[in-house]
Amino acid sequence: MRKITTLDGIELVPIGLGTFPFQREEMCLLIENAVAVGYRLFDTADDYRGETGIGMAVERLTKSGRIKRESLFLQTKISANGSYVNEPLSGVYFNKYSPFMQKHSVAELVREKVHISLREMHTEYLDSLLIHLPYEDYFPDIWETMVRLKDEGKVRYLGVSNFHPRHIGQLPTEAKPDINEIYISPIGTKDAQVEYAGKEDILLMTYSPLMDVAAQRIKAEGTIKGIMQKYGKTLAQIVLRWNVDRGCIPLPRTKNPMRLRENFSIFDFQLTADEIETISSMNRDYQYMAESTICPGI
Ligand SMILES: NC(=O)c1ccc[n+]([C@@H]2O[C@H](COP(=O)([O-])OP(=O)(O)OC[C@H]3O[C@@H](n4cnc5c(N)ncnc54)[C@H](OP(=O)(O)O)[C@@H]3O)[C@@H](O)[C@H]2O)c1
Repeated sequence: MRKITTLDGIELVPIGLGTFPFQREEMCLLIENAVAVGYRLFDTADDYRGETGIGMAVERLTKSGRIKRESLFLQTKISANGSYVNEPLSGVYFNKYSPFMQKHSVAELVREKVHISLREMHTEYLDSLLIHLPYEDYFPDIWETMVRLKDEGKVRYLGVSNFHPRHIGQLPTEAKPDINEIYISPIGTKDAQVEYAGKEDILLMTYSPLMDVAAQRIKAEGTIKGIMQKYGKTLAQIVLRWNVDRGCIPLPRTKNPMRLRENFSIFDFQLTADEIETISSMNRDYQYMAESTICPGI
């Protein structure tokens, strides 16, 4: 698995916290609880409206000496949607029909978005910055500006989200993505993406890894029952560990303190190759949410 560290040089524990849709005080409390459990990686986006709450937590945690900023890993994304109060939400940016894009350059917009993310999250650098979706006509230029921002020390790792290999192939070659954040679950295993990421040394982070658990879809099939009993683990823990054992970092979301601990307690066992195979056999190429409605061909 591609190794990624916090600024203090510690390798990331292979699990992160998904933070949509929490905001402000609720988000702040969630991050404080999660840090106490051991989470260091927090995933957000500039259109989740959660960066302000993360910033409140960063300030409280660092000022009280509970953790240093350089021990946290803050990840956000550049999105086409408006991010802040008074902005319309949908498709304002990276859309050639948007009047906004006729007046502003991509570089100017990306820099402004990152400036706001840094300000809201009370930080001088982002650990990781992703392009949220492969915005047709725009993502290579967005990438160019991200590379500049990395050179300037504002970002440590660069990545993409919802990208297929063919999109990654269209990125300007001066820097390869470190990370691709995509949907993966036992019913949407994305074997080709996992193989490609391994070959290209790209770290896969997996979003919505528990949506199917929450929806009881996987439970109904019962395939995982024997494995749960063998290790004395819950369905969620087995699914998260399956992600880790395939070389991915899952980003589950919960604000329930018990589940925060449950989801983090997956590092005292390891699945066998046969067990990974059994879980993967549930695949039916499911994709949670359309990856992109604006990038034809997906
Ligand atoms: N890049 C992208 O395009 C993209 C798209 C979607 C999501 N994401 C990221 O991925 C994160 C997670 O995705 P998600 O929120 O859609 O889905 P998720 O984390 O797979 O599922 C969340 C649901 O699972 C439940 N849950 C959590 N832990 C559980 C456990 N141990 N047992 C049973 N149920 C459990 C939660 O309920 P409770 O809250 O009640 O515990 C919640 O209903 C987001 O927050 C976001 O950061 C990224």
